Amino acid sequence: MNPIPDAVHRSNVLVCVGPGGVGKTTVAATLALRAAVEGKGSLVCTIDPAKRLANSLGLAELGNAETRIADPILAAASGQQPRAAMHAMMLDMKRAWDELIEQRAPADKREKILGNRFYQSLSTALAGSQEYIAMEKLCELRMQRGYPMIVLDTPPTAHALDFLDAPNRILDFLDNDAAKWLLTPALAAGKIGLKLFNLGSSYVAKTISKFTGVETLQELANFMLHMSSMYEGFRERAHQTRALLEADTTSFVLVTGPMPERLDEAVFFHTTLLQNHLSMAAVVVNRVHPPVPAALWSHAKKLPDELRKRVEATLNENDHLASQDARGVARLAELCAPTPLVLIPRFELDVHDLTSLWNTSRFLFGEAHIETALPSR
Ligand SMILES: Nc1ncnc2c1ncn2[C@@H]1O[C@H](COP(=O)(O)OP(=O)(O)O)[C@@H](O)[C@H]1O
Ligand SMILES: [Mg+2]
Repeated sequence: MNPIPDAVHRSNVLVCVGPGGVGKTTVAATLALRAAVEGKGSLVCTIDPAKRLANSLGLAELGNAETRIADPILAAASGQQPRAAMHAMMLDMKRAWDELIEQRAPADKREKILGNRFYQSLSTALAGSQEYIAMEKLCELRMQRGYPMIVLDTPPTAHALDFLDAPNRILDFLDNDAAKWLLTPALAAGKIGLKLFNLGSSYVAKTISKFTGVETLQELANFMLHMSSMYEGFRERAHQTRALLEADTTSFVLVTGPMPERLDEAVFFHTTLLQNHLSMAAVVVNRVHPPVPAALWSHAKKLPDELRKRVEATLNENDHLASQDARGVARLAELCAPTPLVLIPRFELDVHDLTSLWNTSRFLFGEAHIETALPSR
């Protein structure tokens, strides 16, 4: 079985999730590159890509623009003529929210919402709002654009639950009893202070409390008032997003590292996704230290004494890291069974250009392997 090629074949949406800094953006771009070269036209929607990766994808500017990567560039990286087009975009959260309001808010509310100070800090202040807008964008791209494959990267801070709960949280925020209370005319007129309200420890209350002293209550009340006209739309699309994530043609790729301290986080992600009935293509374990090849040990033996000692010390250190990683990998395989594991080695250099993405894809697609002894199941 080759889990990643299988998933690319049967899916038209791939979502890369996992803890921060593990290689989600790298894996997302790799999947889209490979899909396109092999004949499935793709779009990778990246979130906060490293600058050099963005440059090599031709994404110099922010702003949700879908950019086609020229075929000769794909050909040079892959050593073959691409059979379909690859597109890439950088999701600009603020711009995506603005577009949503521009497209969906009633005409007389648009400017009021866009100009509201509470709204302007929404994307940073409202937990889950980045995850929400990423999925909203995914839905829009899926429905309105004809890409045979969309690969979605996820925000660096995303936790599995934030990601899956985002639509509900936004709905909760808009429809919460406490929030409704805020819409009472007296409050909307700014006559009552926030302190008079006993909002308890709800999500809404916590969110609102972040604004105390920064935003006036009046602004918040106005914001809620204007947004309430969009509630039905939010609810409808929350259902659509959920349906898209649960569709047979959507697969999740969980990206993680082999380090013991990240295992719990990865296993938690894995469990949460399965509990939510989402289809897991594979757990990609990135940056695995491969064991030192036997040839290097024999070379080292032939070196003059002083040098040999130093080289052997380095090789020992590498071997230590490799066996530590092998233990992490074995543990992950056990805890995530029967989801297959796919290993990518830690490369000497960052993965910032299309050639190194292509090289990475050889590991993802089962054409190259790390020697780490994976326990047989
Ligand atoms: N297997 C690897 N070997 C070496 N460097 C890697 C590898 N995978 C990713 N990187 C580098 O690590 C950094 C973080 O990767 P990135 O994909 O941006 O992670 P995330 O999106 O999960 O935050 C980037 O600079 C990337 O080039
Ligand atoms: Mg990233």
